[in-house]
Amino acid sequence: MMQNVYMDYTATTPVSPEVLKAMTPYFTELFGNPSSIYSFSRKSREAIAKARGQVAVALNAAPEEIFFTSSGTEADNWALKGMLEKARAAGKDHLITTKIEHHAILHTAAYLEKIHGFRVTYLPVDPEGRIRLEDLRAAVTDKTALVSIMFANNEVGTIEPVKEIGALCRERGVPFHTDAVQATAQLDIDVDAMNIDMLSLSAHKMYGPKGTGVLYVRKGLRPENFMHGGAQEKGRRASTENVAGIVGLGAAIEIMKSRLSQDRPRISALRDKLIEGILARIPHAKLNGPRGGERLPNNVNFSFIGVEGETLLLDLDAKGISGSTGSACSSESLDPSHVLLALGLSHEMAHGSLRLTLGRPTTEEQVDYVLDVLPEIVARRRAMSPLWEDYLKQQG
Ligand SMILES: Cc1ncc(COP(=O)(O)O)c(C=O)c1O
Repeated sequence: MMQNVYMDYTATTPVSPEVLKAMTPYFTELFGNPSSIYSFSRKSREAIAKARGQVAVALNAAPEEIFFTSSGTEADNWALKGMLEKARAAGKDHLITTKIEHHAILHTAAYLEKIHGFRVTYLPVDPEGRIRLEDLRAAVTDKTALVSIMFANNEVGTIEPVKEIGALCRERGVPFHTDAVQATAQLDIDVDAMNIDMLSLSAHKMYGPKGTGVLYVRKGLRPENFMHGGAQEKGRRASTENVAGIVGLGAAIEIMKSRLSQDRPRISALRDKLIEGILARIPHAKLNGPRGGERLPNNVNFSFIGVEGETLLLDLDAKGISGSTGSACSSESLDPSHVLLALGLSHEMAHGSLRLTLGRPTTEEQVDYVLDVLPEIVARRRAMSPLWEDYLKQQG
């Protein structure tokens, strides 16, 4: 049996040795508060400025447009709450998002709707998880304060037509925010070429530390502040900076960019091997999300009718494999994934889903091992499943 076959890089990634090395001095010798006057603290200020530059280069933004936050979730909260609160004064009260966003967006939107009386449109998606531009066009009104559509979906890997969405928003004069927490770790992003006005990202999805994120805000936009307190981040995001975390984020995004041309083809080839292998070896396996290029390079998501996702995870765990069903954040809830339901899957199919996500350390041997053990596990569980029996009868 292989030990520790980790295939949940979408949930989180290990901090890479280079990132850890860059961070370490800022926990110990270089601990100065960046806001202090003495020259010792200048080192901390300089480290933050360097990281801001690294993020700006990676996104093709200006350093003044980069704001450090405590997470992707905070960046999402700030974008939505900050823009809606600001727009209310101008008589706008409408947010457009999608049914397949991460809960950091969906629960924030629900809060704005229920507690503050804003109106929210949740766009549907096609069976592969893509929004239709006609639906977006029809939803925008002169009351729309913000469009927030994720760059790439964390469960099924679908990449949204971000550039076209941005162009449409620009044409209608509505700011466009994108949750790029998954996308920044694996795709080229250019906020200018892609017409993006605001973008959220998170370090721990790209071999950086947990608890550090960024909200990119295009020059000229001024969402209400979300964290109130000191004058950090030009007075727009209070709290003593997480200097080591920020240094780690900057190093992580720079390394990620420099490795993209080698990591992406290697990882997507392993993804395709896993997808093809599962389709060939497991009857009635349903791939969720798109088959080709419009899918995150590391994402594999299947439903196996007659098999419960949670049971599958435990069986895989017993074989040393870590996977996920739905998103890690909702793994304690027994509700089927809102993303799979939005793609049109039945509750039974949505319950039988398995997400395997690959990363830099993933090897071909690990993929072969999963392809060896998974078909047997699925077959054994199906042999005990009344649902599978019924399904076979229906199929004739
Ligand atoms: C698409 C997406 N948005 C937001 C988040 C939240 O990011 P963080 O864990 O940094 O709060 C995640 C994390 O799973 C995600 O996948």
